Amino acid sequence: MTTRLCLLVSTLLLCAPVARAEDAAELWGKSCKSCHGPDGRAQTRLGQKEAIVDMSQAAWQKAETDAELRAVIANGSSRNTKMKAYKDRLTPEQMDALVRYIRTFKAK
Ligand code: HEC
Repeated sequence: MTTRLCLLVSTLLLCAPVARAEDAAELWGKSCKSCHGPDGRAQTRLGQKEAIVDMSQAAWQKAETDAELRAVIANGSSRNTKMKAYKDRLTPEQMDALVRYIRTFKAK
């Protein structure tokens, strides 16, 4: 019994961070990719039309704070209504995960 519980707990601990990272990627693919592209570079039709920023740019990554990104995701953009508010559709954890995911787009 104890062994089985330990096994279960250690499996959960090992898998939790991986699952979270996958969730963000999945979420991005489902809700954000159509405009921002798979890599955040916005090489999409809407991305071009609306001149969406290329999120892989180091200068952009540096200029935007996590709080700013989080606010746009939660409340939408005041500059362009195509970027909708997601606060009613996503949990706070999901929005935080998306901010971290956006950070992975930074060009090496
Ligand atoms: C229908 C198209 C569309 C979808 C879907 C979309 N966005 Fe956007 N997004 C935009 C546009 C257009 C802008 C540019 C707004 C502006 O200029 O302020 C933007 C801007 C942003 C910004 C701010 C960029 C900046 O420079 O301040 C963030 C962060 C962002 N989107 C994240 C997301 C995330 C995360 C998702 C998915 C949950 C998402 N977007 C889904 C169209 C979209």
